[in-house]
Amino acid sequence: MKTWKIAIVGLGDIAEHTYMAQMHRNSRAEVVACCDIKPDRTALFQKKFGIPGAYSKIEDLLEKEDFEILMDTASIPAHFELNMKALKAGKHLYSQKPIGLTVDEATEMITTAEKMGVKFAAAPIHMLRNDIREAKRLIDGGVIGKVNLARAMAAHGGPEYFQYRVNDPSWFYEPGAGALYDLGVHALHMVTGLLGPAKKVICTATVSSPLRTIRSGNFDGKQIHSNKLFDNYLIHLDFGGGTIADVTTGFCIKATTAPQLEIYGEYGSIILTDDPKQPLKIYIDNPDKKIRGWIDEQPQERPEPEFYQCSCIADLIEAIENNRPPRIQPEHARHVIDLICNIEECARDGKVRQLTTSF
Ligand SMILES: NC(=O)c1ccc[n+]([C@@H]2O[C@H](COP(=O)([O-])OP(=O)(O)OC[C@H]3O[C@@H](n4cnc5c(N)ncnc54)[C@H](O)[C@@H]3O)[C@@H](O)[C@H]2O)c1
Repeated sequence: MKTWKIAIVGLGDIAEHTYMAQMHRNSRAEVVACCDIKPDRTALFQKKFGIPGAYSKIEDLLEKEDFEILMDTASIPAHFELNMKALKAGKHLYSQKPIGLTVDEATEMITTAEKMGVKFAAAPIHMLRNDIREAKRLIDGGVIGKVNLARAMAAHGGPEYFQYRVNDPSWFYEPGAGALYDLGVHALHMVTGLLGPAKKVICTATVSSPLRTIRSGNFDGKQIHSNKLFDNYLIHLDFGGGTIADVTTGFCIKATTAPQLEIYGEYGSIILTDDPKQPLKIYIDNPDKKIRGWIDEQPQERPEPEFYQCSCIADLIEAIENNRPPRIQPEHARHVIDLICNIEECARDGKVRQLTTSF
């Protein structure tokens, strides 16, 4: 079986602690090169993970290294430029989220991937998760009937808040990044992944903390002026046909017991828990069968392979080999970028926005 050669660009927190820490679980992939504008990061990756090639510029990586798949795990504002260079060079691509900052950027990447005949997988990875796929199977199978309402939450206290980061997280508070792009994107992906494209959006947002102090890691004690972007959002989505959703996101929730996602349908509810022993809680009210209550679902089919963050690479390889679209599609990512751009505008003038993209 072929082993696919991978280059990883953007050697920060997630690259080190999530992707490289898990890559060994994917026997079909080998990381042959790494790239970061910071030489200390490439040196660390070479030493810690034994990666042969190291580059400080994507241009040199693309020109000199022999590889097939690029993983873009760089900071958010760098994604579009890095992704376009890789696609134009004919590389298959997995990009961290968001793949770009505007719908036009997303369209340009999708069109370039098609033109170059390469596969393009776009984070977040929620649609590869077993719990989300099972929830989708139940919803699409009509188990809870018409969905009336969903509630989603993706929030924490901010990247400077006890994350023991090696890199300075100040960039998260600069235009081109922010809570909506970093966290809201997760909740918006989950809810649209399960319910389909939204048609309308309205939102309220505030700045909860205009000045923040880094609380851990290499930049402990440094202050960040965090007043340029909203960090506290309440978003309402309308999917048409009587289905609406409420999404909470921001860098201002230090602790919560709220589930990531709850779906309320005509015949019951589906709740995503954080409990690996019972990832979904399902309530069914079926008057015809005289059943009402929480159910203990037993799998009726062979269980899916265990999900882990690098499942995105396993799926991309399968997509390339079988010439099918990756399960985490850039068209879905583009719809979420459309939502994010409209949410930002709506937060400023309070006017309802109609969405134009779909997936
Ligand atoms: N840290 C997490 O827990 C987490 C979780 C999910 C998603 N993400 C996403 O992963 C991405 C990276 O986040 P992070 O937390 O690892 O950030 P980070 O700041 O720790 O690392 C980003 C790295 O990208 C490098 N970089 C920036 N521009 C570059 C360029 N043009 N060429 C090469 N390297 C470049 C930086 O030097 C830095 O080393 C973001 O899109 C973020 O939203 C992070």
